[in-house]
Amino acid sequence: MPRIFSGIQPSGELHIGNWLGAVQNWVRLQQTYDCIYCVVDLHAITGKYEPAALQRRTWEMAVGLLAAGVDPNRVTLFVQSHVPEHAELQWLFNAVTPIGELERMTQFKDKSSRFESVPAGLLNYPVLMAADILLYRADLVPVGEDQVQHLELTREICRKWNAEFGGGEDYFPEPKPLLTQAKRVMGLDGQSKMSKSLGNTIGILEPPEEVWAKLRPAKTDPARVRRQDPGTPENCNIYALHGFFSPPETVATVAHNCRTAAWGCIECKKVLSDNLNAQLDPIRARAAELSAHPETVVELLGDGAERARRIARETMREVRERMGFLARD
Ligand code: TRP
Repeated sequence: MPRIFSGIQPSGELHIGNWLGAVQNWVRLQQTYDCIYCVVDLHAITGKYEPAALQRRTWEMAVGLLAAGVDPNRVTLFVQSHVPEHAELQWLFNAVTPIGELERMTQFKDKSSRFESVPAGLLNYPVLMAADILLYRADLVPVGEDQVQHLELTREICRKWNAEFGGGEDYFPEPKPLLTQAKRVMGLDGQSKMSKSLGNTIGILEPPEEVWAKLRPAKTDPARVRRQDPGTPENCNIYALHGFFSPPETVATVAHNCRTAAWGCIECKKVLSDNLNAQLDPIRARAAELSAHPETVVELLGDGAERARRIARETMREVRERMGFLARD
């Protein structure tokens, strides 16, 4: 079975954007691949952050993933910092990573411009990502468009390391991107991609009242000013959300009732809210159960880290030997 590795930043509660864009895909892939999924907390310290918040966000992300259907009996799910080999391999990969390539990364250029003094971790971020993937000698990496460049650099680090230290052999297989037709979910402002940092999200674990409090004022077709104005569904983000959460018949009805002004935006949002809740209710119920038994989550993550470490230790034994470090007994 080909092996998949993917990581998600501990941004706290999953929102419907990450859920539709990445996590549903993870859940689908666990049926057919040997999947290793990781909450990448070491990646989350490249800017200013609060230690207490990091801990909480890592925990919430793990609960969210489990509640959304990531099945620990099928996959290896763990927290990156629980497997110290990630940091170790990252350091060793610095030996074959050109600074010029790191400085060229679009994400680095964007983010570094916001710092007065740029933390080294921001530059080295893609080296850690290469370590994540190659530590498990993964074949495929499901990534969004924005991570393709980083994966390309992982492939380069892989080739360079094999050439330098592989001893004539490609010890690390070159990982390939697994690009799925990513669902791009716009935020409730209807302006930018749904993102925690922009505050335009709906969390998958938010209670129905809170979801409604956010949906009610959410942006619709700007041309629909009065209730009787006919609308253009294609210009409305609520219509796009119906496409993700409502059955096709309902989507057709929504379009018709918008164009004819048979429904006002509030009625349309009510229907969306009901359909959204129908999909989120079982996830909320699972999350509530997990939160009531935190010890099971601790145990699941412990087992995941143990399984990951068994693979990671073996890789590091090979890597240390090939790189010429004196063996310990
Ligand atoms: N950089 C990725 C992101 O921000 C997260 C990530 C870290 C990752 N390590 C990874 C993704 C390894 C895939 C494989 O989305």
